[in-house]
Amino acid sequence: MTVEERFNAKNAAGFYTQQDDVFGRIAARYNILSDLFSIGIHRLWKRRVARLIARESWSQLLDCATGTGDIILRVIHRKKLEPHQTIIASDISPQMLAIAQQRLKSETKIVFQVLDAHSIPEIATASVDLYSISLGLKICEREQVLQEVMRVLRPGGRLVVLEASNIPWTWLHDLYLKYMHICMPVIGWIATRGDTSAYKYLLNGIEKFPSAEALADEILSLGFVDVSFQRLSLGIVAIHIARKPY
Ligand SMILES: C[S@@+](CC[C@H](N)C(=O)[O-])C[C@H]1O[C@@H](n2cnc3c(N)ncnc32)[C@H](O)[C@@H]1O
Repeated sequence: MTVEERFNAKNAAGFYTQQDDVFGRIAARYNILSDLFSIGIHRLWKRRVARLIARESWSQLLDCATGTGDIILRVIHRKKLEPHQTIIASDISPQMLAIAQQRLKSETKIVFQVLDAHSIPEIATASVDLYSISLGLKICEREQVLQEVMRVLRPGGRLVVLEASNIPWTWLHDLYLKYMHICMPVIGWIATRGDTSAYKYLLNGIEKFPSAEALADEILSLGFVDVSFQRLSLGIVAIHIARKPY
């Protein structure tokens, strides 16, 4: 599939890492950029995701596009892993994953794997109890990723997605996008020392990612059941939860 075909095939940000290794370049600054771009609010979103994950019953958790390991860090801070629990932390960027590995080095039951979420033959079919992806789906071809999720989840397994979403009041959403268009290039330019890719993809992804309702429909149409979502921060992001049928 060409880069352009991927973009048309529901890759909201039009991002393709083989073409632009932006995360490899910004890995060392990713955590500070997350704080700057979201004025620290991403911490609350991730705490909520970690709470959801910690509440679920799972033996094998796969956190795809794990980045610097923010979600897993919060999961293991909430609840000590039980003897039967293991985690796969995966990301397409070895540089991001290396930082995750460094931050999570005290936990021995985490396996780190460089994986492209679009195709993960390294993960056995029906082997994962819970698959999470946070702030990664908008830079991937959604349908392809979700089909892989369906394959690797065991029947009854859960999907948890944190992603950009829509504020239900259109005027407020438009205002938010205007604010992002003004602030992000300024903050991004300074923080990345002129690396425009980092915020170009983010802006594109935020603008073009489907509404919470539309994403729920997409997830349903791919065969998941019990699909629900909760909006956070007025709807700037949403957490979608779904289950693979038994
Ligand atoms: C915005 S960061 C999110 C990181 C982390 N989940 C968080 O919430 O902070 C997106 C991550 O997705 C990774 N990524 C991009 N394309 C990917 C792909 N095709 N497969 C797996 N990871 C990918 C990037 O390397 C980056 O670490």
